[in-house]
Amino acid sequence: MTCKMAVFGTGYLGATHAACMAELGHEVLGVDVDVDKLARLEAGEVPFFEPGLDEVLKRNIDAGRLRFTTSYEEAAEFADIHFIGVGTPQKKGEFAADLSYVEAVVDSLAPLLTRPAVIFGKSTVPVGTAARLGARARQLAPAGDEVEVAWNPEFLREGFAVKDTLHPDRIVLGIDPVRSHRAEDVAREVYAQQLQEDTPFLVTDLATAELVKTAANAFLATKISFINAMAEVCEASSADVTVLADAIGHDARIGRRFLNAGIGFGGGCLPKDIRAFMARAGELGADQALTFLREVDNINMRRRTRMVELAKDAVGGSLLGTRIAVLGAAFKPDSDDVRDSPALNVAGQIQLQGAAVTVYDPQAMKNSMALFPTLSYASSAVEACRGADVVLVLTEWNEFRQIVPQALGNVVRNKHVIDGRNCLDPAAWRTAGWTYRGMGRL
Ligand SMILES: NC(=O)c1ccc[n+]([C@@H]2O[C@H](COP(=O)([O-])OP(=O)(O)OC[C@H]3O[C@@H](n4cnc5c(N)ncnc54)[C@H](O)[C@@H]3O)[C@@H](O)[C@H]2O)c1
Repeated sequence: MTCKMAVFGTGYLGATHAACMAELGHEVLGVDVDVDKLARLEAGEVPFFEPGLDEVLKRNIDAGRLRFTTSYEEAAEFADIHFIGVGTPQKKGEFAADLSYVEAVVDSLAPLLTRPAVIFGKSTVPVGTAARLGARARQLAPAGDEVEVAWNPEFLREGFAVKDTLHPDRIVLGIDPVRSHRAEDVAREVYAQQLQEDTPFLVTDLATAELVKTAANAFLATKISFINAMAEVCEASSADVTVLADAIGHDARIGRRFLNAGIGFGGGCLPKDIRAFMARAGELGADQALTFLREVDNINMRRRTRMVELAKDAVGGSLLGTRIAVLGAAFKPDSDDVRDSPALNVAGQIQLQGAAVTVYDPQAMKNSMALFPTLSYASSAVEACRGADVVLVLTEWNEFRQIVPQALGNVVRNKHVIDGRNCLDPAAWRTAGWTYRGMGRL
């Protein structure tokens, strides 16, 4: 059955959700306050890099199932199903999440809701937010108690966002067990195709659904920091963390995924989500339960400092006057997202210590230049490495894995490579005459 829906916020999450819902056959209106972004989306152009999303967007605009607007009035008139996908960034100077964008959507939308409607929150929010927004929506909406707020957290991974939205590994829906009478049925219509594919569908109360998302991100961050802590011990004891990860990863209870030591996690989700989680636990009087996340955060941040130290060691103790090539700026491969990117953070720290830093990334150049305009940028990996004293590989793009060390050896000043993602073959680089350093490996 075709549903009509509006999606508020057309960033990484919202644009993907809107396009994929249209791909499922629904009629979708994307709503944003950023007119430039909307103009690009309307023209069939994805304003960020996400493999496969361009085609889905174009196909559904052409089919007339997907449109965009700045008008909340138009959205309220068009649909009775609304998704919230706006940002929930970290507040400046605090760990807590800034909920002003999510609140602004409810405050603008609810007064326009004259018919029964369901608002599904997808943004990542602190536990308790959905209940509060529900009360606010009922109070502001002319339709009153006929407006429901449910929470439907999003688990997509940038780089795999289309697949993850069309074929998620689970769908979680939090509803108000006392008041809700439509949200679950509506969600079953919206996600009919996924449910036919036997996607696990977990219907919970609002608080549990909110916590599922933050708990999942806390676990993933902990797994990465665990292996990075092991990398520190491996470095101190001349052991190899990549072999260690393979060996413990064979244990099905542990699993090999997310056990890659390196310069740690970043991006628009994990760092701010674990901090918001700690802040919220504090408000709830459960701060002791999450004090370990502060250590997870500390371990993660130490990896960036460690990379700067390794670069310094490679040039003999001082970065002043050296030339450093940085390969990778996105927080992870197959994305152009540079929010809290470990790669750019390292590049910035090295530049502050007096080195001339040249950065290259296959997709994230524009975003990097906007965030760090004082770094130098090159149009290819080879150009970034020309005359370099050290080459740092800071994002594990396939393009970098495939570099032929012999060829790159001809353009650098000194053949030092530091593999911040343990993604290169040490033997191949050493055979080609390079000194190779990884993170926690020999
Ligand atoms: N990016 C991901 O991989 C991902 C995955 C899962 C969950 N999330 C969560 O989804 C949320 C959005 O993340 P994102 O990465 O898409 O952020 P984003 O910054 O890319 O997009 C947010 C969008 O919301 C728009 N916006 C702001 N105020 C608005 C308003 N009042 N009305 C309409 N639009 C408005 C902004 O202009 C922007 O386009 C966050 O809570 C994030 O934690 C993100």
